Amino acid sequence: MPRPIRAAIFDAYGTLLDVHSAMAAHAARIGPAWANVSAEWRTRQLEYTWIAALTGRHRDFAAITDESLRIVALRHGIDDAGLLADIAASYRRLAAYPEVLGCLVDLRARGLGRAILSNGTPDMLASAVDEAGIGPLLDDVLSVEAVGVYKPDPRVYALATARFGCAPDELLFVSSNGWDAHGAAAFGCRVAWVNRAGGPAEYGLEHSATILPDLTDLARAL
Ligand code: LAC
Repeated sequence: MPRPIRAAIFDAYGTLLDVHSAMAAHAARIGPAWANVSAEWRTRQLEYTWIAALTGRHRDFAAITDESLRIVALRHGIDDAGLLADIAASYRRLAAYPEVLGCLVDLRARGLGRAILSNGTPDMLASAVDEAGIGPLLDDVLSVEAVGVYKPDPRVYALATARFGCAPDELLFVSSNGWDAHGAAAFGCRVAWVNRAGGPAEYGLEHSATILPDLTDLARAL
């Protein structure tokens, strides 16, 4: 018999927050390639986190987010400094997905703990949580800055077990990022992979995770 789940731990970017809403807000100024530019920004941003972790040269997620935006803008010939500043500002106040609030309310009603565990800096996460209006529904917002290394390093997932004083398999880790879901599964957590993009399962997630299209029926993974 698996042990009951004590808390749901959420990835932030891409899972609770729509990372593409920052460029979507300025789509008319970027042009028709905006969605490709946004996708490439996200890819570079994550690549920089993995390289920082593997080289042992940590730079925080605010610096990496700004640097990856600068590089992707250069690659696409976007040189409007005002536009880039506006996109960067929008990234600090990303839109939450519409079902997030209801999902957290449901988990609270079930008596489960609720926290974010993210690559984001405490400042970035505080403004995102504030914008989404979900602060009162969360027990905690955990940032990788506490350990100075990025996901999927196991020290990051250990922040959640330490916070809730439990074993990994008493946590449901929830992420739309397949590699992050896999990292949490490798650490021993139960996992829900939120397959927002409808892509094929990677990293064996079809065996190690409950796969959901969004957060509406997260209770299915409990
Ligand atoms: C985060 C990134 C992985 O919030 O989306 O940690």
